[in-house]
Amino acid sequence: HLSVEERITQKRKAALIGGGQHRIDAQHKRGKLTARERIELLLDPDSFVEYDMFVEHRCSDFGMEADRNKFPGDSVVTGQGRINGRLVYVFSQDFTVFGGSLSGAHAQKICKVMDQAMLVGAPVIGLNDSGGARIQEGVESLAGYADIFLRNVLSSGVVPQISLIMGPCAGGAVYSPALTDFTFMVKDTSYLFITGPDVVKSVTNEDVTQEELGGAKTHTAVSGVAHRAFENDIDALLNLREFFNFLPLSNKDPAPVIECHDPSDRLIPGLDTVVPLETTKAYDMLDIIQGIADEREFFEIMPNYAKNIVVGFSRMNGRTVGIVGNQPKVASGCLDINSSVKGARFVRFCDAFNIPIITFVDVPGFLPGTAQEYGGIIRHGAKLLFAFAEATVPKITIITRKAYGGAYDVMSSKHLRGDVNYAWPSAEVAVMGAKGAVQIIFRGKENQAEAEAEYVEKFANPFPAAVRGFVDDIIQPSTTRKRICRDLEVLSSKKQTNPWKKHANIPL
Ligand code: COA
Repeated sequence: HLSVEERITQKRKAALIGGGQHRIDAQHKRGKLTARERIELLLDPDSFVEYDMFVEHRCSDFGMEADRNKFPGDSVVTGQGRINGRLVYVFSQDFTVFGGSLSGAHAQKICKVMDQAMLVGAPVIGLNDSGGARIQEGVESLAGYADIFLRNVLSSGVVPQISLIMGPCAGGAVYSPALTDFTFMVKDTSYLFITGPDVVKSVTNEDVTQEELGGAKTHTAVSGVAHRAFENDIDALLNLREFFNFLPLSNKDPAPVIECHDPSDRLIPGLDTVVPLETTKAYDMLDIIQGIADEREFFEIMPNYAKNIVVGFSRMNGRTVGIVGNQPKVASGCLDINSSVKGARFVRFCDAFNIPIITFVDVPGFLPGTAQEYGGIIRHGAKLLFAFAEATVPKITIITRKAYGGAYDVMSSKHLRGDVNYAWPSAEVAVMGAKGAVQIIFRGKENQAEAEAEYVEKFANPFPAAVRGFVDDIIQPSTTRKRICRDLEVLSSKKQTNPWKKHANIPL
């Protein structure tokens, strides 16, 4: 007979080794860390406070009631801790216990930390590594997923939610990451799919590997399901710490401000020549974004998906900002279905969490073609328009070159409540480029060249927008950082609300 003290010690010890040393070794052999090692790396040293170490599954079918099938803490480690001193709730699925599969008890543990995070206003990070529903438990496990989904939805826009996929995540399990704000993956060891390769083969007769179907490359470059992929567990967790520093703890908190050693009035002479004189020539919008950002730091979101738009986080004078920019290097920076959806989701995150949005515009319009029209570009382009229009956070827009057609309106224009809108001297705000315009309005007429020159003289410059007050000023590119930092200071007390509604009806 063990005393209570001895039993406590014994259970804690058992919880710490999860499914046992041989399964821990197997996990390491796959190049994966254990649930606890991951938490250690993610959080500040000694900051982790664990809950529910004594929770066990309650299944009594298929011999599950036997002691050898009970693991204190079951297949997930949960609790709270700090990242650079800031509170965060975490759950980390333990693949060494029944493949990290989700029992009713496992789900309850996750729900507990999600509820607590909402009560105190702190983000939730989920480290996913699970074989899905605990097969022995059946509907109890499905109920557990739904309990988590509901909390994901209710927490959306209240506290940031981040998923890091570090192993399998299949079937119903995928919908919790899908509901969170950001989904990151680990290359080669993680995958996400609704149904695995075997089911795919039997239903559609396609031959596809796990990696092709749902690996990091697929989801960061093809499907747009994941926002970034990292080399391995350590790289992913360290990047997650960096990423966390950009986020406010909740929608009631302002975006974090950190001490900044990069002078806010730093001039960037290189920007005066970054836009090529020839309007059809490409340049890299990242040069501009990194040029103006504190310490050139830019945490890009979805860098390999819809590359014609660039989105991500930086700081300006220490303050977190969300940056959106058309990318002239890819498809001339035009907007299409994927870039609109990518941009819209990012803008809505920033707006939900009080992060000012800086938009760099060089857009020749929306991408023409049947593929886009049949795919519903009207509906999807409307998402980006909707997102910018409804956003009430500080909005600063810089037109670096083209701002053509409807895309001009969409890209955080003055008309959509842009707070400060600048044009560089190279800006052209017009319905379309000179050639196309002249072909339409002077069709069949002589003197096309003359008409084109006239169009360029009239429209291919910032004045038509500036004389109407649609841009607030025409600025020297090298002064852009200085101007933005000053504006953000002024706009930090901005207060704007939208008309009362149950919720808006963004075109989905
Ligand atoms: N329920 C209960 N136990 C599970 C499980 C689940 N959903 N998924 C995995 N396990 C257990 C395995 O029985 C095994 O137990 P053991 O260590 O006692 O032998 C352990 O977890 C590891 O699984 P294993 O299959 O050996 O690992 P793997 O890396 O070869 O494969 C998966 C991982 C996830 C691909 C595979 O386990 C799998 O296909 N699981 C079922 C997925 C599924 O269909 N889930 C239900 C739909 S949501």
